Amino acid sequence: MNAGAAALQTLDLAPGRGPFLSDVLDGLSHPQKRLAAKYFYDTRGSEIFEEITELEEYYPTRTEIGILEARATSIAALAGPGVVLIEPGAGATRKVRILLDALEAPAAFMPADISGEHLVAAAGQLALDYPHIPIIPVIADYTRGFDLPLPAGAETAKRVVFFPGSTIGNFDRSEAAVFLRRMADLVGSGGGVIVGADLKKDPAVLVAAYDDAKGVTAAFNKNLLVRMNAELAADFDLDAFRHRAIWNEAKGRIEMHLESLRAQDVTIDGRRFAFDVGETIHTENSHKFTIAEFQAMAKTSGLSPRAAWTDPRERFSVHYLEAI
Ligand code: AVJ
Repeated sequence: MNAGAAALQTLDLAPGRGPFLSDVLDGLSHPQKRLAAKYFYDTRGSEIFEEITELEEYYPTRTEIGILEARATSIAALAGPGVVLIEPGAGATRKVRILLDALEAPAAFMPADISGEHLVAAAGQLALDYPHIPIIPVIADYTRGFDLPLPAGAETAKRVVFFPGSTIGNFDRSEAAVFLRRMADLVGSGGGVIVGADLKKDPAVLVAAYDDAKGVTAAFNKNLLVRMNAELAADFDLDAFRHRAIWNEAKGRIEMHLESLRAQDVTIDGRRFAFDVGETIHTENSHKFTIAEFQAMAKTSGLSPRAAWTDPRERFSVHYLEAI
């Protein structure tokens, strides 16, 4: 870590170990066992995710970057000068740099994430590269909503949320609407929300993006088992589960599961869970949208669609929404 990172004032609003254990015990107690996708992103999981973004099959990251680069001027014009830019779930800084380069004199950048170590390192590097922009990392579980103390002098600045990567697709449709409403409240009337949303397309393309030939996504999924073994005294046999990616047409989403290859018992923190052969833990939903569907959802959340941009193959979309 460098001096820039160490010097940053950081707001730590993260939950401790308790929620992981209680979420796991609760999630595995349902008839359809499940785990929240946010638990993918420990240090190792974040590394594997970076690898996913470079896979031939995983088109979203490079497609969204292409859209942001092509449309940076239009996005910056809609945001306007002197905004406080807020990124919930900030990970890699590659995308936000495109905005920070294009925005006129931003008042501050506030990246927020549940994983503090990664966040502070990334923010420290940004602070070095953008010395004229106050960078204020916020450690918080944004899926639960958080309130932001704005930096002195910027209390009245226009706020703009940046939520790229189609991370919004991890929420159920009703949760996504609640999240957008929260973002509308966070930025306030006239504030902006810039969101990336993956588009519906040929299911074969979608499934390949979540079940790559090299098995990187399989390792990403199985990292949840690794985490439970390491952090929650669980005894999952990693070779007794396999990665599955399924297109659920009715729900318009890719689902990831971990499928038990045999009947087995697993112990977690002293409690036993039985798995039938073929039984799965549902680990992630990745909802896909049409532009019209996404804009309709935004409207129900108090956000007025101002612009939607896509790539020439119409694989991915970036939206500028304005809080009413
Ligand atoms: C970071 C949530 C957008 O759903 O595409 C990638 C996560 N999961 N491959 C996605 C993910 C499997 C990704 N998001």
